[in-house]
Amino acid sequence: MLKDCSQGADSIDIRKATVGDYDAISDVMFDAVRNGRSEYTEEQRRAWVSQPRNGTSWTERLESQTILVAIRAGQIVGFMSLAANGYIDFAFIRPSAQGTGVFRPLYEAIEKLAQRNEETRLWVHASLMAQPAFDAMGFTITKKETVEIGDQTLDRFEMEKLISIDC
Ligand SMILES: CC(C)(COP(=O)(O)OP(=O)(O)OC[C@H]1O[C@@H](n2cnc3c(N)ncnc32)[C@H](O)[C@@H]1OP(=O)(O)O)[C@@H](O)C(=O)NCCC(=O)NCCS
Repeated sequence: MLKDCSQGADSIDIRKATVGDYDAISDVMFDAVRNGRSEYTEEQRRAWVSQPRNGTSWTERLESQTILVAIRAGQIVGFMSLAANGYIDFAFIRPSAQGTGVFRPLYEAIEKLAQRNEETRLWVHASLMAQPAFDAMGFTITKKETVEIGDQTLDRFEMEKLISIDC
């Protein structure tokens, strides 16, 4: 276990994901995008994640990076990932756990991991919902983008944070 952030029933454990977590991760992503608070329309959310992801290309994408999961009361309530070159590919928290202190410990564990990997820059394509959360973690906006997904266009921000190597 990488981190146990508090004591008691609400404590959050952070650990590396294993293959056995992939279905739960996929479900958390679907739930976060489709059922959580959002600044995107229903059509935009459906285009982003039409159904819980699965299949070979999904598994290969997960396998190509380090994924940390946050566990509360035995359930995966969120996950975040570190891909090559300091890229944070995923950041998703279940709607029922959003705003309850899961994002920060997950992010801090990702930053520690990046420091251990001697990364000096973390960057992310942040959704409109994620931008204030990454801002609170010290990220700044480098670009505003509009991406096409299916027949929809979604606004998002490219953000970065320069980090120092952990000695
Ligand atoms: C984006 C997402 C991962 C953020 O997780 P969350 O649990 O909702 O995040 P929180 O609201 O707890 O915010 C995280 C931190 O940022 C801070 N924060 C958020 N909005 C803020 C604002 N407007 N001003 C100042 N601080 C803010 C929070 O206070 C919190 O800091 P704390 O731990 O010190 O309290 C989550 O909402 C989600 O999964 N959304 C749907 C999918 C998505 O958009 N994923 C991102 C893909 S890039």
